[in-house]
Amino acid sequence: MEIKARVFDPVTLKVDCLVLVLPPSEDFSDVASPVNRATNGVIASAIKDGELAKSGDSLTLYATAGLACRRLVLISCGDKPLSETQFDKLLGKIANAVTGTGIKTAALCLNGVSPQDKDSGWAAAQLAKVLGEQAYIFDQYKSKKDTPAPALKKLTLHSLGSKVTGDLNTAITRGTALARGINFARELGDLPPNVCNPTYLAKRARELAKNQPKLTAKILSEKQMRDLKMGSLLSVTAGAETPAQMIILEYKGAPRSNAPIALVGKGVTFDSGGISLKPGAGMDEMKYDMCGAASVFGAMVSAAELDLPVNIVGIIPAVENMPSGNATRPGDIVTSMSGQTIEILNTDAEGRLILCDALTYVGRYKPKAVVDIATLTGACVVALGNHATGLFSNNDELATALLRSGEAAGDRAWRMPIWEEYDQQLKSNFADMANVGGRNAGSVTAACFLARFTRDYTWAHLDIAGTAWKSGGNKGATGRPVPLLVEYLSSQAG
Ligand code: BES
Ligand code: MN
Ligand code: ZN
Repeated sequence: MEIKARVFDPVTLKVDCLVLVLPPSEDFSDVASPVNRATNGVIASAIKDGELAKSGDSLTLYATAGLACRRLVLISCGDKPLSETQFDKLLGKIANAVTGTGIKTAALCLNGVSPQDKDSGWAAAQLAKVLGEQAYIFDQYKSKKDTPAPALKKLTLHSLGSKVTGDLNTAITRGTALARGINFARELGDLPPNVCNPTYLAKRARELAKNQPKLTAKILSEKQMRDLKMGSLLSVTAGAETPAQMIILEYKGAPRSNAPIALVGKGVTFDSGGISLKPGAGMDEMKYDMCGAASVFGAMVSAAELDLPVNIVGIIPAVENMPSGNATRPGDIVTSMSGQTIEILNTDAEGRLILCDALTYVGRYKPKAVVDIATLTGACVVALGNHATGLFSNNDELATALLRSGEAAGDRAWRMPIWEEYDQQLKSNFADMANVGGRNAGSVTAACFLARFTRDYTWAHLDIAGTAWKSGGNKGATGRPVPLLVEYLSSQAG
């Protein structure tokens, strides 16, 4: 589907569906007035009868005399300024209207409506993002598809001046590229764990590198990881039949001399808990334990598509956490690549065990900043629910930049502490540290564990356990925090 901004005449434009967003007053815009006149005052009558009183109220008219479009949809924006959430709801209505049956071509006039403090460029980008996200359908394993593929081929967005058209089209490109990255991440998340295993993730990385000249992929085998002394990571994969892979994706958008931004994503393609086996209920959702990895893929897809002038290195430790006769036992002590020893008291706290070695490895890239992304703790869901991602950092400037990016992208994070007092909960009688710190403050002690491996660089950790997917009837990956990451990477460009 293509979205383009241009100036058009709403009366003579031949499209399957014309959507006008309107205030519920008779104060029409330049676009709506001619439509009202050409239709003998249809819009004025509808408003007078109270059809469009509240934001989101809508009215569909077929084959209206005086207009060239096949159907006209009027959607009210209400008479109060819109919040971002309300605006997104409005975009949802628009998306539903233009993807209705039989609509191949559509046109939209937003009439300058956007949330408070946001301009029409922001609104155009958001429109492209929402429409792109709505186009995501995961039905490759359904014998009978329940939703037919949307017919919409082309959407024209009305812009009021010719100079604005260029800006709007740039904004549309941005929103579309972001939706591509989000949907890429969602697909990897939703794929079943018997398909999306470490080998599969490595294959997708190689494929990306083949199609994108600025992306390269390098994969480390278990043998190479053993040579690098990644004893902690390898302890997690010990019980699995499918081999672990360390995926390294590099994006070069700036001169070599620019230090890269590193993204490290937890890629546990299935987390059974290992010998510390999880309870059965809801265990299927542990296929989403690679959503950190998926968000690294997604952010790099968007960055490459946007041609961002930055260097990025994406590191994805990919493993399966399974019980078996070879699996790691509670009580085992392993040596991480950093040389620090770890007493594994719970094999279900495996994310930190793969991330610590990946975080040591990434040091060789001399990164400007390192951001790891992980579905790390159930405790983070208890603390923040499904609304905010947990943010932990050893650097205030980086923390602020990430919080701002989340705010701007509508993909918010909330900062939590990594104080010394919490770190002490990781004390072990037998090794340098334990891999768990007790029941209290579980997401904080997990972050403190990671902080022990990131002392040499500027680092932040995003715990996305509550935000990466939705449970229940609408179970599915969200693609978060790709919007936050892409916003952050864009802000670091140049
Ligand atoms: N992948 C899970 C965290 C998780 C659980 C995310 C539920 C989303 C929903 C992680 O590997 C894990 O099992 N963490 C344990 C840590 C505990 C053993 C210290 C947890 O949160 O229970
Ligand atoms: Mn686990
Ligand atoms: Zn896990």
